[in-house]
Amino acid sequence: MTNVLILDSSASGDASVSRKLTDAAEETIRRRDPFARIVRRDIGARPIPHLTEETVPAIRAGLTETEAAREALALSDALVAELREADLIVIGAPMYNFGIASTLKTWFDYVLRAAITFKYTESGAVGVLEGKRAIVIETRGGLYSEGPAQMIGFPGAAPAHPARLHGHRGRDLRPRREARLRPRSRRRGRRRRDRPNRGARRNRVAAGRLKRQRASRPPFAPRPLRGGGRDHHKRL
Ligand SMILES: Cc1cc2nc3c(=O)[nH]c(=O)nc-3n(C[C@H](O)[C@H](O)[C@H](O)COP(=O)(O)O)c2cc1C
Repeated sequence: MTNVLILDSSASGDASVSRKLTDAAEETIRRRDPFARIVRRDIGARPIPHLTEETVPAIRAGLTETEAAREALALSDALVAELREADLIVIGAPMYNFGIASTLKTWFDYVLRAAITFKYTESGAVGVLEGKRAIVIETRGGLYSEGPAQMIGFPGAAPAHPARLHGHRGRDLRPRREARLRPRSRRRGRRRRDRPNRGARRNRVAAGRLKRQRASRPPFAPRPLRGGGRDHHKRL
């Protein structure tokens, strides 16, 4: 049985594109593995509180002198337990202002704990939760696979991105596939306009028409004059 954790971090509720995609991912997982145990956490709809002066010592050093610190540590423990149990993590990650949503960043702030989910080594911080797979579904308004925008690219591909600390060290986190979605009307318009072999196809159609015309003409009928048009042809 696969344990799956699905995170949604969009602030857009039902209008969220990434949420539709995480829903589709859930459907696919259920279809392939009807016994999969799926936990969904919507940190976009119910955000995790940002770190504060009171909660940082709780999460980084386990110090719980105040009620807020105790609550933060309890929440962090719960989020880490969810992560630890999951074999597959699906993350809905919309791009907000050239990065991940702050709601998702806060989740990382709560689950990245030294000696618990990562450790420091001579070659830097590395994740200790091994053997997990992650699917990051990123949505964004712009295109970042071409031209100078590639410099911005996929936030998860940045060497220092926290996603790398989940045992994905060294893995290529660049997007496997960039699907471009447009409103139906624009998509149809573009498809017709940008069809790469438009010219070649038009030539093939014209050549076929000419061939059929020639085949149906009596063997010694005079050839239509170039530029003569239909009327001219009739007169002949
Ligand atoms: C606050 C905000 C900031 C955004 N910033 C960017 C951006 O920097 N680059 C971009 O390509 N799209 C940006 N977008 C567009 C979103 O990435 C896009 O609408 C995406 O579908 C959002 O995913 P969601 O619908 O799941 O929230 C932004 C949208 C919002 C609401």
